[in-house]
Amino acid sequence: MEVKLQHFLFKTYSYYTPTRIVFGVHSSKKLVEEVSKFSPKKVFVVSGKTVRSLGIVDELCKPLEEAGFSVTVFSQVEPEPSIDTARKAVLAVRSEGFDLVIGIGGGSSMDVAKIAAALAKNPGDVSEYVGAYKVKEKRLPLILVPTVFGTGSEVSPAAVVVDGRVKVALWSFNLNADVSIIDPVLSITVPPKTTAASGIDALSHAIESLMSVEANNFTDALALEAIGLVFTYLERAYANGEDIEARYGVALASALAGMAFTNAGLCLPHGIAYTYAVDYKLAHGASCALCLPYVMEYNLPTVPEKLASAALAMGLDVAGFSSKEAAVEAIGAVRELIESLELPTSLSDVGVPKEELPKMVEDLFTNQQRFIARNPRKPTKEDMEKLYEAMWEEL
Ligand SMILES: [Fe+2]
Repeated sequence: MEVKLQHFLFKTYSYYTPTRIVFGVHSSKKLVEEVSKFSPKKVFVVSGKTVRSLGIVDELCKPLEEAGFSVTVFSQVEPEPSIDTARKAVLAVRSEGFDLVIGIGGGSSMDVAKIAAALAKNPGDVSEYVGAYKVKEKRLPLILVPTVFGTGSEVSPAAVVVDGRVKVALWSFNLNADVSIIDPVLSITVPPKTTAASGIDALSHAIESLMSVEANNFTDALALEAIGLVFTYLERAYANGEDIEARYGVALASALAGMAFTNAGLCLPHGIAYTYAVDYKLAHGASCALCLPYVMEYNLPTVPEKLASAALAMGLDVAGFSSKEAAVEAIGAVRELIESLELPTSLSDVGVPKEELPKMVEDLFTNQQRFIARNPRKPTKEDMEKLYEAMWEEL
């Protein structure tokens, strides 16, 4: 049940990740060295309130100031940031002659940092850049320092903001950071609930990359390694935040899965998650956890070997199983992991009234077509109505 080359034998594809990664325990001590390589005078730092209140931002910025850089901190990024927050960051970065941007925090802070760096050099409003490859002019130099691991934003060309009640994405290799400094130590204070949700986001990225119609040999290798790391380390990081080896494993999984989805693209789970995450104020990873096993089940007839390879990556004993039987085991293991991390497992659990389901299905087909396009099984509205009902009732 190894990954079979015939999946890709008659396909020409490309693989690209433009971000240089500096990885390791205490690697964030390299920030001054990495900043110095760009010889900036004025540095604009983007972060969230929580990460700033924990002292992480000041701890990272102090050596920069001591080294003679002028540092301005914008720390207004909220979880699931609104397009207005991104606009505020853009206004701030355009107001002075900054020459380097640093994003410190989770996916939200990193995404807003990407937008600020891009729009410092590109005119107009953030909304004009929603979609793929619209950022034309080279952005300001950008360094990302993740403190929560899972979104993969540290290596991806994506920046997601909430516009009204719709999650919209900017996607451009011009948004990728020049450098990402990945230091597992910075995530030690992340609470269990956030650790669980963001870790499942990484798992979802990996499994979606594996299932995507745009998968290739490189993205499969990255995705399978990420799946193995999540199954080995996420429960440990959840149970004991100070388990540095577990934090290391999850940080590595986040980056590998981010590199996978940068090239394979995400499919149906993220599209479905976007149809209820905003209205029901769910953490992004929790919204993915809700639908991931259901979509795996739905996709099983089209990608049994892929899901069987996931079972092997998870370390499940599937010797002698058919691909389909192994795939069923993989889906069961994902369900068990989500339950053990105490994440919500049904739409009714998170307060969705059953009568709202048809609207969500409409929303999926109206606003999330790009995810449907990459899904290996092409869903009908009827299929999705059944799937949402199963997710509501936890069938
Ligand atoms: Fe995600």
